[in-house]
Amino acid sequence: MRRSTRAMLAAAASLAILLTGCSSSGSGSKASDGKKEVGVFTWWSAGSEKLGLEGLEKVLASQHPDVKFVNLAVSGGAGSNAKQKLQADLAAKQPPDSFQAHAGAELMDYIEAKQIEPVNDLYDKFGLNNAFPKSLIERLTVNGKIYSIPSNIHRANVVWANPEVIKAAGLDPAKPATSIEAWIADMEKIKATGKIPITIGAPWTQTQLFETILIGDIGADEYNGLFNGKTKWDSDKVKTAVKHFGQIVKLAQLNSTADWEPMIKPIIDGQAAYNVMGDWALAAFNSASKVYKKDYIAFPVPGNEKIFDFLADSFTLPVGAPHPEGAKAWLDTISSKDGQLKFNEIKGSIPARTDVTFPSDDKFAYQRDAMEAFKNDTIVSSIAHGAALPVSASTKINAAVEKFTSGASNEEAFVKDLVAATASLAH
Ligand code: GAL
Repeated sequence: MRRSTRAMLAAAASLAILLTGCSSSGSGSKASDGKKEVGVFTWWSAGSEKLGLEGLEKVLASQHPDVKFVNLAVSGGAGSNAKQKLQADLAAKQPPDSFQAHAGAELMDYIEAKQIEPVNDLYDKFGLNNAFPKSLIERLTVNGKIYSIPSNIHRANVVWANPEVIKAAGLDPAKPATSIEAWIADMEKIKATGKIPITIGAPWTQTQLFETILIGDIGADEYNGLFNGKTKWDSDKVKTAVKHFGQIVKLAQLNSTADWEPMIKPIIDGQAAYNVMGDWALAAFNSASKVYKKDYIAFPVPGNEKIFDFLADSFTLPVGAPHPEGAKAWLDTISSKDGQLKFNEIKGSIPARTDVTFPSDDKFAYQRDAMEAFKNDTIVSSIAHGAALPVSASTKINAAVEKFTSGASNEEAFVKDLVAATASLAH
């Protein structure tokens, strides 16, 4: 994993006081009734994500009945508010017992600041060294030490689509476009029918859409090169992706203040054709009792075929956690076969463990496809979800993207902002 600066910590500390739900005593909580407890910090506070967390809570209750679950979730998709509060709490040495962090570059932030403990002993104790794919363990390891335990793997480069809206434009839902350019042409046809071609929400969802357009236009190798200096952020191909992103934004219903779930609703309701979202969207379709391949379809963002834009949620043992025993019980549960099955069945993701499979009924058809794709596709790391870049850089990219989508910068200025956002990374 790459090196990153710690400058964001100070900024995060001052920003956090502006956040709603910010408690002066930090994320950590003290045991009040003599029971063991675990305060778990996530951003799974609402809708289908909350249901996933509740699923894990139930498994914890059955596996560790003596440990009380304390929910410290902070609302805002992709941790848009949670990460700032967390960084402030960690800087103030008031950690929760365990917190959600993405495998990859994002973990590096906490490791460098010595805010999380290595958990190699738990890997040995719970028998996890062979349970997770090697490639995933590598993304969690620094200098031989493993710093968190993954609960799931999500795919970020998925188009969720309404087949009726697509058909009404004279397009075949079974044959989606295979390039960004052809996809834009499809969106123009959809617009001509009076329906919304694509919905886009909060800035992090805009970054996620942009990263998938980048992958579609520059391919996996050059996309990976953006993070090791081999591909320049102002290369001609990146400029093409920026142009395409601008065209798609013009065709979109854009609501920068909406989280991801409300922007999926127009797809569910037949008002819009497409939304690009990670496969936590599956949980929203399930909650609305919609049937995969009938009421809605899902396919890789055009140009992303055979590429899996990866992110994994993982959980940590913070230095100075108030209830380390509770944290260890939590880490046991989230890594257990039962925990991974129950959680991922609800969450839309796939188990990080390779020895867990979904039941064979239709309800899990998308997730079985995703498991195959993860095994066979080229894996790249998500920018919007902490796998490719540290929080400090992805925060700057979010700001640059929002500046562009709000019309405050043009293509040229956006490219300059992208170069500046990533300039501090050592290659
Ligand atoms: C991601 C996270 C997912 C999901 C999503 C939307 O960062 O890894 O599990 O919660 O944000 O909030």
